[in-house]
Amino acid sequence: MSANPASSPQHEKVSLITLREKKERGEPIVSLTAYDYPTALAADAAGVDLILVGDSLGMVVLGYETTLPVTMDEMLHHCRAVARGAKRAFLTGDMPFLSYQADVAEAVRNAGRFLAEAGMDSVKLEGGGEMVSTVRAIVSAGIPVMGHIGLTPQSVHQLGGYRAQGRSAAAARALLEDALALQQAGCFAIVLESVPARVATLISERLTVPTIGIGAGAGCNGQVLVSHDLLGLFDRFTPRFVKQYADLRGEILRAFERYHAEVRGREFPALEHTFTIADDEWQALLDGLEDAPLGG
Ligand code: KIV
Repeated sequence: MSANPASSPQHEKVSLITLREKKERGEPIVSLTAYDYPTALAADAAGVDLILVGDSLGMVVLGYETTLPVTMDEMLHHCRAVARGAKRAFLTGDMPFLSYQADVAEAVRNAGRFLAEAGMDSVKLEGGGEMVSTVRAIVSAGIPVMGHIGLTPQSVHQLGGYRAQGRSAAAARALLEDALALQQAGCFAIVLESVPARVATLISERLTVPTIGIGAGAGCNGQVLVSHDLLGLFDRFTPRFVKQYADLRGEILRAFERYHAEVRGREFPALEHTFTIADDEWQALLDGLEDAPLGG
């Protein structure tokens, strides 16, 4: 046993090398999204390897219809909170729509802000072969990049909705080519979202970098879920690939309803939630008010 718990393997900061070694050992990489300090603390304590501050933030926390309106400022704000909570997990900040598509130099600058201003270890961006020069430029600046192909929510309008990708031989081949191009450009890992399990397994076997699946079956090198889906906190829609491990929305609703009832019924606050003033101080206050009435 290590004398210093902070240096034991369970507490050592996860790095790109740790992730690559996990793939080599066939050990699944565990990833979750987080958007705030308490969730980051809990994910870190549970031993999650990679925390993604996803732009799903826009839908599950900020209430937007899609991820498209999410801004750099919103992402950086939530990344900072996560970085304050998570000390062990490898941290990835999701580049929001239009922060990297229009111009390579702007993409490098925006990617750099996630590391310089928000405590992230890396960034993620969506897209395949068309993103190769952007990925290369960001990686050349010393910023690790995670790719994301398959269902890419920032292209929801182009894809015609949130639907599985790579379901024909040609589309599956194109996904494999995208994955290889992203790896070649320097991505340290690639998210495969809503892709048939057989296709995701094939891609995972052909790549040397890890794949992180979401709706892509058990053959990926790791799994990621949106924490609000897993916790049962987001009920606008639940993709079929989500497993709900808790019903926090129900828990929260029940707690708020009880609080509401107890305040209205004058059950809360009870004595144990209340501060006191000593009798002599209280008497002095009353005497003082009698001797010198307020406003007198
Ligand atoms: O934004 C996000 O949470 C994501 C994951 C679903 C991979 O991109």
